[in-house]
Amino acid sequence: MADGRSLVAALALGADGMNMGTRFIATREAPVHENVKRAIVAASELDTRLVMRPLRNTERVLKNAAVDRLLDKERALGANLKFEDILEQVAGVYPKVMQEGAVDAGAWSCGMVAGLIHDIPSVQALIDRIMGEAHAIIGQRLAGSLAA
Ligand SMILES: Cc1cc2nc3c(=O)[nH]c(=O)nc-3n(C[C@H](O)[C@H](O)[C@H](O)COP(=O)(O)O)c2cc1C
Repeated sequence: MADGRSLVAALALGADGMNMGTRFIATREAPVHENVKRAIVAASELDTRLVMRPLRNTERVLKNAAVDRLLDKERALGANLKFEDILEQVAGVYPKVMQEGAVDAGAWSCGMVAGLIHDIPSVQALIDRIMGEAHAIIGQRLAGSLAA
């Protein structure tokens, strides 16, 4: 979820709102390193991977060299994989990534929605834009579409 289309789609499905995670990370106010925001903006919807599925701890993360190593281990060890095998790629990674900006330090969460994120606005500007887009879709595109 990232924009007015996401919001209108969620409302059409009967939801009262939408859950927006990754989009908020790439905002001016988000208390994370600029490198993280830039990595999200640079990523396409093809740049995430699912890790730790064999451990029943699935996480969608941004692809990087550490994630490639992690997935190699998953493939090599199969059902024998243990947390201990991937500690280097997942343990203690968040402070390094989010505070120090070492975005290749390990696996960190990122939605496929990164493909829809192209800027780093203020939260106010982002919400204003989403609401403007949603109002336009509802008031113009959808208005009267059921009349015929
Ligand atoms: C930095 C970050 C950390 C996250 N940590 C968790 C987590 O610990 N557990 C979890 O279930 N989901 C986690 N998520 C995934 C969120 O549940 C997910 O972002 C949310 O469903 C919204 O999806 P979106 O990011 O595509 O908007 C995390 C997401 C981000 C961006």
